[in-house]
Amino acid sequence: MPAEQPCSPHGLRRVASLGCLLVSGLWIAAPGEARDEQQIANRVEGLLSQMTLSEKIGQLAQLNSDNGLSPDLSERIRSGRVGSILNEVRVDVVNEMQRLAVEESRLGIPLLIGRDVIHGFNTVLPIPLGLAATFNPELVQRGARMAATEAASTGVNWTFAPMLDVTRDPRWGRIAESLGEDTYLTSRMAAAMVRGFQGERLDGLGSIAACAKHFAGYGASEAGRDYATTNIPENELRNVFLPPFEAAVEAGVATVMASFSDLNGVPATASRFLMTDVLRKEWGFGGFVVSDWASIEQLRIHGFTANDRDSAAAALHAGVNMEMATSVYANHLESLLEDNRISISQIDRMVADILRIKFHLGLFENPYTNPDDFPARGNEQHLEVARQAALESLVLLKNEGVLPLDAESLDTLALIGPMADDGYEQMGTWVFDGQADLSQTPRAALAATLGADKVRYVRALQHSRDQSHAGFDAALEAVAASDGVVLVLGEESILSGEAHSRANIDLPGAQAALVQALKNAGKPIVAVIMAGRPLTLGNILEDVDALLYAWHPGSMGGPAIRDVLLGAVSPSGRLPVTFPRMVGQVPIYYNQKHTGKPATAESFRYIDDIPVRMPQHSSGFVSSHLDAGYTPQFPFGFGMSYSRFEYRDLKVSEVEVPLGEPVEITATLTNTGDVAASEVAQLYIRDLVGNVTRPVRELKDFKRVHLEPGETAELQFELTPESLAFYGQNMTKITEPGRFQVWLGGDSAAPLQSEFTLTLPKSEY
Ligand code: NOJ
Repeated sequence: MPAEQPCSPHGLRRVASLGCLLVSGLWIAAPGEARDEQQIANRVEGLLSQMTLSEKIGQLAQLNSDNGLSPDLSERIRSGRVGSILNEVRVDVVNEMQRLAVEESRLGIPLLIGRDVIHGFNTVLPIPLGLAATFNPELVQRGARMAATEAASTGVNWTFAPMLDVTRDPRWGRIAESLGEDTYLTSRMAAAMVRGFQGERLDGLGSIAACAKHFAGYGASEAGRDYATTNIPENELRNVFLPPFEAAVEAGVATVMASFSDLNGVPATASRFLMTDVLRKEWGFGGFVVSDWASIEQLRIHGFTANDRDSAAAALHAGVNMEMATSVYANHLESLLEDNRISISQIDRMVADILRIKFHLGLFENPYTNPDDFPARGNEQHLEVARQAALESLVLLKNEGVLPLDAESLDTLALIGPMADDGYEQMGTWVFDGQADLSQTPRAALAATLGADKVRYVRALQHSRDQSHAGFDAALEAVAASDGVVLVLGEESILSGEAHSRANIDLPGAQAALVQALKNAGKPIVAVIMAGRPLTLGNILEDVDALLYAWHPGSMGGPAIRDVLLGAVSPSGRLPVTFPRMVGQVPIYYNQKHTGKPATAESFRYIDDIPVRMPQHSSGFVSSHLDAGYTPQFPFGFGMSYSRFEYRDLKVSEVEVPLGEPVEITATLTNTGDVAASEVAQLYIRDLVGNVTRPVRELKDFKRVHLEPGETAELQFELTPESLAFYGQNMTKITEPGRFQVWLGGDSAAPLQSEFTLTLPKSEY
């Protein structure tokens, strides 16, 4: 029997799958936590044995706050028919809800109070896509901790984050909430966010339960239309879409949310494969699963069940513990039990999972929240985390020698655009609790540093969709009277997020026309773009001299943007997602398959190079678009700096590595430029031959390194057998012998490469 070993920080992982000890079906974790686990298991069992069926079914219900405590909601809480409330953040109301549950219900079971704490709370961090652009999991963890602390001070004890849907489609509005297109990056950020939200212990001050969502495959919605069908072969599901969820489970995530979407013909909310076979049996998840909003009821609308009763049965059998917002469980579980379509032991298991998390959160001991126990929301330290996150999320995409601006020699700066001074819009999507009055805009930040009289601000367009050219003249006047021009453009926050997908991902409104008009004034133009997704930038790229991509940067976007524009800090964000040239290229992502006819610079022919009436022939065709080519506008991992970096001496420990042994990779990285800057060193591999074809490159590790001019760092990476493994044709995870290519560099198109071969011991040939 394997030695007892830590399984997760919170003991929420079914230990058998990790080679830890499984004691009489209980969850245990690190030896120190085993006591807690045993105690909690006893308490859960004790409580369950006293519960009526109605109280059990009550624990499976999550209700919307109803804008406070209606008489009906109060009565439901008092009678033990609610397990959780969502969307209440007034601490006095939350405390009153807890009082009704703890002091007036028969068994005194406290409530889970859920909220979408997605990227901050009152203090707003960059949107998750921007957080991913930092390539800095430690910072993202600190951000999640800050958000958790602010949320916890209102009585919220559960967030519906992180969203771990890998997505390759910038049309999808929820790409803003995602951590981008890459499985590995999303997995690293998943673990960081879970640790940040949940802290060392779930019952610690400022810890809230996290929720890995949306399980699973939601990011592959057809055409990027939210809620649309997804079809993902199991192999692809396991290699691309599921690993971030497994990483969250390994980090001890307390809860998982089932996706709205239909996955291969079975809506995820009814997928026993996902929620029982994979999540619980394979990964040993020990927390509980919540449906998405009304997603149990929607099983009928999908056409998967004939009525709500069947939906309740399907979701329960699949493994959904708690129903969000609707009352399909509450209305039908009892009669399903009477008809023996479900069993009481199933219900008991579902309830036990929820109670276990309530005990872990320490809610039975401390159901009430005193805001005085917490630091003030929106305090200096919190804003500082938001500022650092915004700073590291900024990606410089183009710079024809204009940036950084020289503040000394700048007489007047024309600051133009609908996003330059809009504290609300810079917060982005999912900011239920975001406080726009905490936002510091680029205008405010630049005026504070340069002096208000030096900044000539013209909004020019009322909002990002504005089609009117009425403000162009004022903008042109400001440009004529200035020696520097900064345009802050983008998308309003409501153009991304849930159910806000776009088919055209150009800059909306008359923004491109504004760029064109100002370009004609003949002064160098710096564009800053705040957006919830990668936009297609082809219609402005040539017209601007520098382009800084800021996502929706949150409360402290202004100071972060100012610091980069004025050169106080060199930009260091990297793209967590590929930018297409045209929307027709979507999905375009760096870790695509090679195909049998890959395009190359030599083989590809652009539409205008094809002679009229050229005869069709059956050789020489390659995988590309005639009008867009085969390369993206900007590759995954890309981002410029004010400095230069050189990678040298890449060494792979052995040219031939016995299968099962780790592979060591070393190199040096030197800042050969003139300014201090941070680089994100990215390690990619390609497994050249596989039992299923492998991507042309796969990110396997990265390091964010800060270097002074002339300074060199030694880089060290280790590729383990596990990190080289993938799911093969029969859905088992394997590391295969054979050749691997290696790239180390500043983006996914980096040229430096090496190779190694994993070899079988001679006897196994
Ligand atoms: C629906 C969204 O899909 C989900 O992500 C969110 O957590 C819930 N609504 C609750 O607001």
